[in-house]
Amino acid sequence: INGNGNGNSKTNRSVNEPRAREEPRIGTHGKPLYTDLAGHPVEDDDNSLTIGESGTGLLEDARLLEKLAHFNRERVPERVVHAKGAGAHGYFEVTKDVSDICKAKLFSEVGKRTPIFARFSNVTGEAGFADTNRDPRGFSVKFYTEDGNWDMVGNNTPVFFIRDAIKFPDLIHSQKRNPQTHMKDPNAFWDFLSLVPESLHQVLITFSPRGVPDGYRHMHGYGSHTFKWVNQEGKAHWVKFHFLSNQGVKNLTHEQGVETAGINPDYAIEDLFQNIQNGNFPSWTFFVQVMPLEDAAKYKYDPFDLTKVWLHKDYPLREVGKMVLDRNVDNYFAEVEQSAFSPAHMPPGIEPSPDRVLQARLFAYDDAARYRLTGNYLQLPINSCPFAKVQNYARDGIMVTSDNGGPKPNYYPNSYEDLPKPDPAQKNITPYEHDSGVVDKKPFKRWVEDDDYEQPRMLWQKMSPEDQEQTAENIAGHIMGAADFIQKRQIEVFRKCDESLASKVEKALGEKKQSPEPYTMVA
Ligand code: HEM
Repeated sequence: INGNGNGNSKTNRSVNEPRAREEPRIGTHGKPLYTDLAGHPVEDDDNSLTIGESGTGLLEDARLLEKLAHFNRERVPERVVHAKGAGAHGYFEVTKDVSDICKAKLFSEVGKRTPIFARFSNVTGEAGFADTNRDPRGFSVKFYTEDGNWDMVGNNTPVFFIRDAIKFPDLIHSQKRNPQTHMKDPNAFWDFLSLVPESLHQVLITFSPRGVPDGYRHMHGYGSHTFKWVNQEGKAHWVKFHFLSNQGVKNLTHEQGVETAGINPDYAIEDLFQNIQNGNFPSWTFFVQVMPLEDAAKYKYDPFDLTKVWLHKDYPLREVGKMVLDRNVDNYFAEVEQSAFSPAHMPPGIEPSPDRVLQARLFAYDDAARYRLTGNYLQLPINSCPFAKVQNYARDGIMVTSDNGGPKPNYYPNSYEDLPKPDPAQKNITPYEHDSGVVDKKPFKRWVEDDDYEQPRMLWQKMSPEDQEQTAENIAGHIMGAADFIQKRQIEVFRKCDESLASKVEKALGEKKQSPEPYTMVA
């Protein structure tokens, strides 16, 4: 980023640029000086300090001790999900006026640019996992706006496996490693999913030809949840976010994915890096679907159910702008690994919906970042917004890198006019009417059993015969690692969706059982 956001030109410093790019210190040899971590000159970094040429080491070799000690502390916990990913900088540019529905400053005028940092990821693999496995992909974008960061933390699918966050840890456990074998476990995968048929929509997408994107440039991104946009007059709409790839959607077949995993497990990271390096900047066009608040109670699908989409014919896509990625990171750890995205980070104009999964996510991400990167993770350059000075009364904690409020009082309310005060004119949450009732644990009010099957059925019936064959093959190749009774249960889930889905999977499964491939247990 070149600090080129015309609306964000209050500072000359661009995102994640060191505050002072100092000239290197020069040694007596006329070259940059090697120093220890505290900045002392290092005389020799090839030999440790010993008594005599073959003598023992010495505790006074502070350089050796420091080097080994620092090395031992190089790892921070990897993300519990979405651990493997790639990131890049770029900008977002408004191409269409949406000020009638959203007052967020980043959308204030056509042509306005806002610096962004995007991270794409796999979900269930660890930091060293292959990029081309069958798995949804994460699609996170951090917009550095004048009112603080907007983190759009989405996936490459418009729906998700579950509609209530309480199932999330179990969902992820069932797709990660078996507690005994430490292998991926198709039995656990299908055991959980066959007991949770609300997952079917996401399952069909994951096993369809779209389940293995050809790198991160060739996939769409979705906010997936419903969010609320509010305009200057305080009028609100429900919205869904769509980022459509201008490179087009391209996917790998199951076989290509498996082969690439062996040849180049970092395929997607490399594809993104190389293309940006070569000036072939990937871009996505940002659209919203917009629903008047009063439609929510009437629409045929519960708009706060994360397993459902809104049909485009009911709520067409409205263009907002485009995001372009045009700068690779200088340092993967500092920028990608230390980046922390949170759905709770929204500037005025963008607000949450009552979606149960979103509500939990508003808590989960900052909590995860506090564990992974400490409580002051928002002070890290990649996470702090250079255009929105942070002014509050929070102080101290591990690794303070700001001025920590300097000499100013650290409590509120206080008697000092020149200290930060809340601004009632800037609403974080716009009031709206929603359900009220008894506090209880209940499924969605408008949920009926067929709900779990209707949209997957529409998706299945819209697929070409070739895509249907591939989807059934992909499912069969995976589910054959599950126990027979689990296979049967899941096939009945497919049958409730569409008889031809069940019979195609059964047929493919029968053929695969005749001639199993080696290592079919590996998901
Ligand atoms: C990462 C929790 C559902 C997209 C994460 C992380 C946690 C988490 C703890 C790791 C964060 C970190 O260490 O920085 C949850 C919970 C969910 C949920 C509790 C449901 C209750 C979803 C959904 C989506 C999603 C529905 C997409 C629509 C992502 C993405 C990342 C992520 C993209 C990676 C962010 C990055 O690039 O750093 N999630 N998640 N998650 N999640 Fe979720």
